[in-house]
Amino acid sequence: MLNAIEISPDIWWVGGIDWNERSFHGYSTERGITYNAYLILDEKVTLIDTAKSSFTDEFIQRIKQVVDPSKIEVIIANHIEMDHSGSIPAILELAPNAKVYASAPAGVNELRAHFGLDVEGVKTGDTLNIGKRTLSFLQTPFVHWPDNMLTYSEADKILFSNDCFGQHFATTKRFDDEVDTCELFRQAKKYYANIVLPYGAQAQKALKAAAALDIRLIATSHGCCWRSHIDEIVAKYQAWSTYQTENKAVVVFDSMWHSTERMAREITDAFIAEDISAVLLDVKATHISDVILEMMDARYVAVGSPTLNSNMLPTVAGFLTYMRGLAPNNSHRVGLAFGSYGWAPLGPKQVYDELERAKFQLPVPAITQQWIPSEESLAELQATVRKIIAEQA
Ligand code: FEO
Repeated sequence: MLNAIEISPDIWWVGGIDWNERSFHGYSTERGITYNAYLILDEKVTLIDTAKSSFTDEFIQRIKQVVDPSKIEVIIANHIEMDHSGSIPAILELAPNAKVYASAPAGVNELRAHFGLDVEGVKTGDTLNIGKRTLSFLQTPFVHWPDNMLTYSEADKILFSNDCFGQHFATTKRFDDEVDTCELFRQAKKYYANIVLPYGAQAQKALKAAAALDIRLIATSHGCCWRSHIDEIVAKYQAWSTYQTENKAVVVFDSMWHSTERMAREITDAFIAEDISAVLLDVKATHISDVILEMMDARYVAVGSPTLNSNMLPTVAGFLTYMRGLAPNNSHRVGLAFGSYGWAPLGPKQVYDELERAKFQLPVPAITQQWIPSEESLAELQATVRKIIAEQA
């Protein structure tokens, strides 16, 4: 029988740990995933969220450690994406009289569409008394589906935040101060960059609403709960959701016979020479979700591709497509397209067009190099980049 963990008096973590999941919709989850669900033992036994359907057994075993599942009277679905709602049908088989609550109208409609369930809709400001506790609801649409909401227990000062403040980080530890802080914040940042990034304005609204609450513990639906670093993670969300950048450069490229790679190295060196921290990422070696992680707070982004069959390389196109979907606000970011070619500079020009569509500041046209760059052309490239940096000062 798998163990539940009491995270606060009468509140138990009953989730699942997906140690070996390595992809969430194309986002590389090198540290695995957890699906956090919480059981509140009050006059009405209440379950907040469930787990992915492949973790139903694990989830129910943990519940059974604490209470007979048939005693569950309230199920709150903070989010209908199936990593959280996937075990609702199974728990309803065990607790057929439980009432399901979700945000109205999106959550109600989605639960009906997914599982044909009859659901009670709640909106921001609605409350639900479960005995000693009164839970209140706060809708946070598009952080990260239209149905998302937060549930707050004033008696416990716990915010059940679902995806918000989550990390894809499989661990036996349930709290932020029990794990490596660097890794925790890295995974929180990667999660924001790859899940929440398109919804900065909505995240801002959620932060403003949450700021009015007295919070002792943020119980997320993924990774660790926040109890010792609440101010820091809220400050990070504030920075990320307002697209703040640092004086940092990301140089991302793919190369065929190393000409574009040589250009990428020269560009990186130009940033170093101007005292700007830079990372050089070959998309053959670095997953695009890690490129986005690096790029999210970078002031400069240089993207390079040679020409292959009249196009940019598919690896670079894949990265740019992924980036466009995440819709980062690039208007305050400097972009640079570059790359080599044999007989037609179409690859780097396509990169330029994509950066233009993504609304980067583009101070110079695509920098192209026929065949192999000479020392002189590399020096000229470095001078161009250093001039761009100087003009930004
Ligand atoms: Fe963790 Fe949007 O699901």
